[in-house]
Amino acid sequence: MEKVLSRNFHHAQPLDLATYRAGGGYDSLQSIFGRDREEMVNELRASGLRGCGGAGFSTGLKWSFLAKDAPRPVYLVINLDESEPGSCKDRQVLYRDPHTIVEGVLASAYIIGADKAFVFVRGEYKVGAAKLEKAVQEARDAGLLGDNILGSGFSLDIDVHLSAGRYICGEETALLNALEGYRANPRSKPPFPAVKGLWGQPTIVNNMETVCHVPSIMHKGAQWFQGQGQNGGSGTHLFQVSGPVKNPGVFELPMGVTARELIYDHAGGLLDGRKLIAFQPGGSSTPFMTPDQLDTPMHFDAVAKIGSRLGTGGVIIMDDTICPLKYTRNLIEFYARESCGFCTPCRDGLPYLVHLFDKFELGTATAADHQTILELCGLIGPNTHCALAPGAVMPVQSALQLFDDEFKKHIAAKGCSYSPVAATASQ
Ligand code: NAI
Repeated sequence: MEKVLSRNFHHAQPLDLATYRAGGGYDSLQSIFGRDREEMVNELRASGLRGCGGAGFSTGLKWSFLAKDAPRPVYLVINLDESEPGSCKDRQVLYRDPHTIVEGVLASAYIIGADKAFVFVRGEYKVGAAKLEKAVQEARDAGLLGDNILGSGFSLDIDVHLSAGRYICGEETALLNALEGYRANPRSKPPFPAVKGLWGQPTIVNNMETVCHVPSIMHKGAQWFQGQGQNGGSGTHLFQVSGPVKNPGVFELPMGVTARELIYDHAGGLLDGRKLIAFQPGGSSTPFMTPDQLDTPMHFDAVAKIGSRLGTGGVIIMDDTICPLKYTRNLIEFYARESCGFCTPCRDGLPYLVHLFDKFELGTATAADHQTILELCGLIGPNTHCALAPGAVMPVQSALQLFDDEFKKHIAAKGCSYSPVAATASQ
């Protein structure tokens, strides 16, 4: 497997343009400029590249939704508003190799024929955004951005936009509203952004990692990309592991590496004396996986097959020192706080779930509360305006199944038997 996104991570500082180019950076443009756009979209579809922001939607398919005679201007918007707890991969590329982002955006913009590109960066990644700005300016100065890039007849500029900082801004249509200067409430879909996006114009919205895979696919081919994966996955992915492991971090590995290899070989396994109880495979909105599922290949279809979601590939570990109910409560508290407040099931339902979980911790819960959590999840999930609350209840529904005994134990013991000290240490 060849490292693509993390190939320059061993350098102490992000590479300047000259050094980046000396290592083959921007060479991909020779394979892209002048080539038929539809053919390139088809190659992308054949490569198996899927959205790395969490949804795993086929990138080539999404790009094919853009009408050939789409009204101008057409926009490319890069979602770098990485805010899902457990996800920290895009940050690494932003801080350590911003020219990889510029190259990915430029290549992708050419293929879809975008008139302008925006990179929407998480507000807390302010220092990274400045590094990206610097790389963009270097590219402008060298004629890699601007009018008639390298004599190709193609013109593009990239606007780096720093988010004001809310989780909901990462929902693609809320992000478009934020870019337009409005309150970041999600829009109804359809129409999808490919039809009606930024300022009502056709817009492709992609996660940063997704577009960073495009140059090497175009340069080396769809088959090469497929061969980078294993166990049915295509390409590489920036996996992340957080929680009580010896070597937490971000690892570029073949899509389809098993969860066991990722957690034990790359993240070093659990801290001494800790036992794996469960893990979330792709950020805080993904259903739990259990130790008996460790040999599952970490790619979208294989993880979906066992009832979870690969999401961002940001694995979060739950060990035996933390109360599973408390762990789950913390997740919902995050989503309750980040709700945009637009629709009632999300705005009122999520805080009420937190309240119910608190009753279990405080020892005042009854069997009726257990039942209410179950019913509330069923009511919230399908009845909200966007994916925030359905994402929030997925791990709760999973916890209800996996930790049924714990709910009952908390009711019978009138509270939590886990040591609060140990629980704090593992968070
Ligand atoms: P989605 O499945 O609704 O859409 C995926 C993409 O495909 C979107 O760009 C959408 O516009 C496009 N699409 C889908 N059907 C289409 C159609 N018929 N025509 C045209 N375009 C179409 O998922 P969504 O809401 O974009 O993302 C949800 C995921 O985001 C969750 O799975 C979650 O894991 C992840 N997430 C990631 C975060 C992060 O920090 N990276 C934060 C929050 C959520």
